[in-house]
Amino acid sequence: MAASAPRQTLTIRTPDDWHVHLRDGALLQAVVGHTAAQFARAIVMPNLKPPITTVAQASAYRERIRQALERSAGTEAASGFTPLMTAYLTETIAPDELERGFAAGVFTAAKLYPAGATTNSDAGVRDLAHITPVLTCMERIGMPLLIHGEVTDPAVDIFDREAVFIERHLKPLLERHPALKVVLEHITTAEAVQFVEAGPSNLGATITPHHLHINRNALFQGGLRPDMYCLPVAKRELHRLALRKAATSGNPKFFLGTDSAPHLRHAKESSCGCAGIYNAPYALESYAQVFSEENAIDQLEAFASLNGPRFYGLPLNQGSVTLERRDPDPEAPGLPAILELANGTAEPSRLVPFHAGEQLDWHITARNR
Ligand code: DOR
Ligand code: ZN
Repeated sequence: MAASAPRQTLTIRTPDDWHVHLRDGALLQAVVGHTAAQFARAIVMPNLKPPITTVAQASAYRERIRQALERSAGTEAASGFTPLMTAYLTETIAPDELERGFAAGVFTAAKLYPAGATTNSDAGVRDLAHITPVLTCMERIGMPLLIHGEVTDPAVDIFDREAVFIERHLKPLLERHPALKVVLEHITTAEAVQFVEAGPSNLGATITPHHLHINRNALFQGGLRPDMYCLPVAKRELHRLALRKAATSGNPKFFLGTDSAPHLRHAKESSCGCAGIYNAPYALESYAQVFSEENAIDQLEAFASLNGPRFYGLPLNQGSVTLERRDPDPEAPGLPAILELANGTAEPSRLVPFHAGEQLDWHITARNR
């Protein structure tokens, strides 16, 4: 980093987060304001306990999100943020339920978790053949399928699980359902980048800020680092570089999805720590840092605000966000190492955010709704 970087401002159309975990109850109330402060819309993951599998559950969850946001950030914040709900695919979910929810504007998409792949995925899909009628229905009605793309086969090395999923499951799935809109979520490998680039226009991918910043060394830097653990796990440096190239390329198939996945500090710092990185507080600043490091800040708007809505077939946001790049200040304290967030209970939610203790060069200075 140069000692004195020039001041620079950037105004972009208000972005959306195409993949976020907002949780429920006290944790929802603690975290939802961070996402709503930066994004106009967010695709909300359905991996609650129990998972969101019905239209009624999704409507009720959407209302809890609205209420939590109103309580934590006020009515204006709540009216300026639209949670886009997803259905959690199980082997018994009925195509009719999805079709009804999609037609009613309650479900925007459906999420496929291979059973056992990640947090609260036990109710997910063991065998893709069992949900063929569901996928056929989604293909017919134009409902996007969002995929956690990792095999769960314990014989496959954890760092290879995404690449093997593409070969074993994603390729055949796209051959069986050529018109299905598919988002390969939170991609982490050069193989995924190449596969998406080479695929049809109905195949896209989200990329998280953390996979653009860290490689797998971060998990073990000076000791075991639970705050750097997420799924899919960060890979080698060559993969991080491929992701940075894809995200900043302007290719409309790649768009912003933070996969912000809060777990309370004690659940991360445990003998069996949970997977998930809480990046919502500084997500856009984190992406901006990457784009400017890649000399591609002019591509941030496409990635953050244009490619996602175009893929989903939704209107672009009308508002704007302004970011400013400032000289790094060696005296400045850096971002907080831990957040203590009010949540409507006596005990605050303690979360360690991504970039804890670091300084980021970019700052949000204005937002017009
Ligand atoms: O790191 C992750 N955390 N990856 C996921 O796929 C799920 C998420 C969560 O819900 O905690
Ligand atoms: Zn996720």
